[in-house]
Amino acid sequence: MIEALVRIEGLVVQYPLDSGVFAHSRGWVRAVDGVSLEIRRGEVVGLVGESGCGKSTLARALLGLVQVEAGRILFDGQDVTRLAGAPMRALRRRMQITFQDPEGALDPRMTVDEGIGEALVIHRLGGSDSSQRVGELLERVGLSVELADRFPHELSGGQRQRVGLARALAVEPELLVLDEPLGGLDVSVQAHIVNLLSELQERFRLTYLFVSHDLRAVAHLADRVAVMYLGRIVELGPVGAVFELPHHPYTRALLAASLNPGCDVGLVEGEPPSPVSPPPGCPFHPRCPESIDRCCVQAPTSIRVGEGHEASCHLCEGGVAGRVA
Ligand SMILES: Nc1ncnc2c1ncn2[C@@H]1O[C@H](COP(=O)(O)OP(=O)(O)OP(=O)(O)O)[C@@H](O)[C@H]1O
Ligand code: SF4
Ligand SMILES: [Mg+2]
Repeated sequence: MIEALVRIEGLVVQYPLDSGVFAHSRGWVRAVDGVSLEIRRGEVVGLVGESGCGKSTLARALLGLVQVEAGRILFDGQDVTRLAGAPMRALRRRMQITFQDPEGALDPRMTVDEGIGEALVIHRLGGSDSSQRVGELLERVGLSVELADRFPHELSGGQRQRVGLARALAVEPELLVLDEPLGGLDVSVQAHIVNLLSELQERFRLTYLFVSHDLRAVAHLADRVAVMYLGRIVELGPVGAVFELPHHPYTRALLAASLNPGCDVGLVEGEPPSPVSPPPGCPFHPRCPESIDRCCVQAPTSIRVGEGHEASCHLCEGGVAGRVA
């Protein structure tokens, strides 16, 4: 049994409604609503789901970047939600994130050299020749050293994504959280980034949480996949099993939408309900083509449907091997 590098237990993250798109109302948005998930050392876990289902919030919570309402996040046994100061800084070096919007994540006033160098300085890793180290990192992500003097706006989207990756790799992390690393890139550039991520993962024995709308990329890169809907994980398992024999109607809908060329997971029929007032019972029931009476009043629990494969749907009850413990 491979040891878990990250263990998320019953995680809840909510935002006050006086911020973001809900600024006009009162209350809370439950962006992550009771998520439990393990990421094993050296494993790639894909995280998929429609826009707004809570992927980035979960990704940020792993690094202690958002306030957690309930639950724990253990990184190599240490609870990220309770650490602060020097112990948190030491842990931060071991886990890095590349943000969904690399343009926003890179400081527009810093050259590539300065931006990557800053990561080395923060973690006191620069040594006497940080330029040489920056050069090595650029080469590692397939960029020419000549780009070191450029500013982010002088780079293509794919180059910016690679610079973000170089910056994250600078501190030699164990866990990389990749939040939509393919977003906004041309298909051919996406393929290069997927290959690069795959090479880096093997070469440095990295652990990834790979957030993506692109199910093909997830199938290529991930060992396991978690399907998220309205803040909850509704299906989890080996990527081959989940994509070839999905047990949750939502996973089936995602897959059907992604089979159309040019479509992504945003095209499941019907609007996702508001996370401010999620529907009673199964949160997917207003859109579910397979819903039964019980779905409107009773929330399903996670059911084991195969080896390491679980789904939260009433239709799976009495399935392969009963409930997940
Ligand atoms: N800072 C914030 N303040 C208030 N609400 C927020 C904030 N950030 C996210 N949300 C809300 O929390 C929910 C989850 O957002 P999140 O960004 O985690 O989704 P996502 O799955 O990453 O979406 P996308 O695929 O569009 O990136 C959404 O309803 C979003 O509007
Ligand atoms: S529990 Fe019911 S509504 Fe929810 S996914 Fe299963 S069948 Fe559909
Ligand atoms: Mg996001």
